[in-house]
Amino acid sequence: LANEMIQRVWSRISYVVVGDLGTGKTSIIRRYVHNIFSSNYKSTIGVDFALKVIQWGPDLIVRLQLWDIAGQERFGNMTRVYYKEALGAIVVYDITRPQTFEGVTKWKKDIDTKVALPDAWGGGQIPVILLANKTDLIGEGHGQHVNPTELDQFCNENGFLTWFETSAKDNSNIEEATRHLISAILKLE
Ligand code: GTP
Ligand code: MG
Repeated sequence: LANEMIQRVWSRISYVVVGDLGTGKTSIIRRYVHNIFSSNYKSTIGVDFALKVIQWGPDLIVRLQLWDIAGQERFGNMTRVYYKEALGAIVVYDITRPQTFEGVTKWKKDIDTKVALPDAWGGGQIPVILLANKTDLIGEGHGQHVNPTELDQFCNENGFLTWFETSAKDNSNIEEATRHLISAILKLE
């Protein structure tokens, strides 16, 4: 009988990945969606789009829509269009290039001024997490680990849910960070 069948609930979640040029947004998405990495840098033009369907719980399937926004788009006028329907965001910086951390607050401000949760969910800011990417390069003498206390405080003051150190190359923390964001979005419903 229909009542005895497993009820599968589908959910659709859209989120954007932003950050300055070359910080690793496309690489993080490729790692998460296809589990591949390439050291060739091909800058994203405008915006890219990726899809992934995940089994979240025994009866919940989530269809993820990931918007990969080019770093250079911060200087354009299109981000408002790309942010449409976003329920969450990931902001990425490159630990080997401290100047990309300055982009973090600028991207966050761009999100905060242009995106809000649906009215049915009370409006308000979408959940945003911060990724300190390319930690694999620390072992090669580039950059250094973040100061957890400082970054916690930064997240508090700037409205980030939390932060993760990641490496798209080593596949470090990409899955964990994404799960954290999805979990936060699902809790909003
Ligand atoms: P734009 O599209 O131009 O905004 O850049 P992006 O943020 O999408 O950066 P992308 O993923 O294209 O990566 C830029 C360069 O950094 C590429 O050469 C990647 O291979 C490299 N890269 C990305 N993530 C990592 C990482 O975790 N470790 C290392 N070592 N290199 C990385
Ligand atoms: Mg890119």
